[in-house]
Amino acid sequence: MIYLDNAATSWPKPPRVLKAMVDVLERAGGNPGRSGHRLSIEAARVMYDAREDIARFFNSDDPARVIFTNGATHAINIVLKGLLKPSDRVVTSAMEHNAVMRPLRSLEDRGLILDVVPCTSDGSLDINDIAKAVDSTTRLVVINHASNVAGTILSIGGVASIAHGAGALLLVDAAQTAGVLSIDMKACGIDFLAFTGHKGLQGPPGIGGLVIGDHVDTSQIEPLVQGGTGSQSELEEQPEHLPDKFESGTPNIVGIAGLRAGINWIMDRGIETIRAQEKELTVALIDGLSDIIGTKVYGTHDPERAVAIVSFTATGKHVSEIGLRLDEDHCILTRVGLHCAPAAHKTIGTFPEGTVRLAPGVFTTRDDISTVIVAIEKVIQS
Ligand SMILES: Cc1ncc(COP(=O)(O)O)c(C=O)c1O
Repeated sequence: MIYLDNAATSWPKPPRVLKAMVDVLERAGGNPGRSGHRLSIEAARVMYDAREDIARFFNSDDPARVIFTNGATHAINIVLKGLLKPSDRVVTSAMEHNAVMRPLRSLEDRGLILDVVPCTSDGSLDINDIAKAVDSTTRLVVINHASNVAGTILSIGGVASIAHGAGALLLVDAAQTAGVLSIDMKACGIDFLAFTGHKGLQGPPGIGGLVIGDHVDTSQIEPLVQGGTGSQSELEEQPEHLPDKFESGTPNIVGIAGLRAGINWIMDRGIETIRAQEKELTVALIDGLSDIIGTKVYGTHDPERAVAIVSFTATGKHVSEIGLRLDEDHCILTRVGLHCAPAAHKTIGTFPEGTVRLAPGVFTTRDDISTVIVAIEKVIQS
């Protein structure tokens, strides 16, 4: 089997991730921050160590500003629904995932003013268009770091300067880049970083996080969920201190342990090594697909400006038929359709049918790509 659906969730996971998850249940199975006994204290230590590693990984100074969530969607919702008021103005791009678009459209129904900046058909964002859209009335700019449809990387640093120049904050959806591109929150000027654990970070499903910039005033943000935190239990009101303000309910300690192991695995392998491998595989995919008559490959075709996500269509073949034949006849797993990102497909011109998306991962080899290209050619010509 060749698994090319790593943009949906990475698979397989490094063995140490699985081991860390089993280990935490065996060794530190208490409820962190709740009880005072040794298993609870050990679980709290696992969480704290993970927060420290995550803060370091994204170059944030304060581990207490790492908020665990169940994924990027949850992290994005914390910011959008907690920070924004009905008449606020928000600027976003036309390449966003529904994790961003759906909460924004729902807030728009309640009075939010939303400006969606168009992107070019290869998924790129012209920084001048952001500059035109952002002004002193803008509260927040929200953009993805890389598209889950075309793979195109957006220029975060440039957007941050424009947002901050106008007094707005920047929320970055790093679901497709955390673990494959080096992300320095301070150098890039990111105020809120939403990430997921189960893709490039090699963790399990059900864990992710929000890293809040050191200077962001969190008293302006209402928690999305309120409840038990294990701290200040004498209060019937939600604590104000971090991370507790945004982390109610029993945390996913197993997921957190797996995420930490995934991040440590990435640090050991080296993010530059991972990136170099992804670029090589992306080039091989684009070159191979471009040689097949009838295919159209989307995105920039420039591995420097894209993560390892290659979307294509083929004349005369429905994408779902291609995906099905690759799966059933060749044991090649891809994802077809709209990838929860209708705006991005409208931008690149593939709405409503969508594309076949090929997303290699850290365990994909150059030989896998050669096999995949031969199989795609057979499917398309059959
Ligand atoms: C760009 C982008 N944003 C957000 C998400 C949502 O991530 P999660 O499933 O972890 O909530 C995804 C997942 O596919 C994504 O690709």
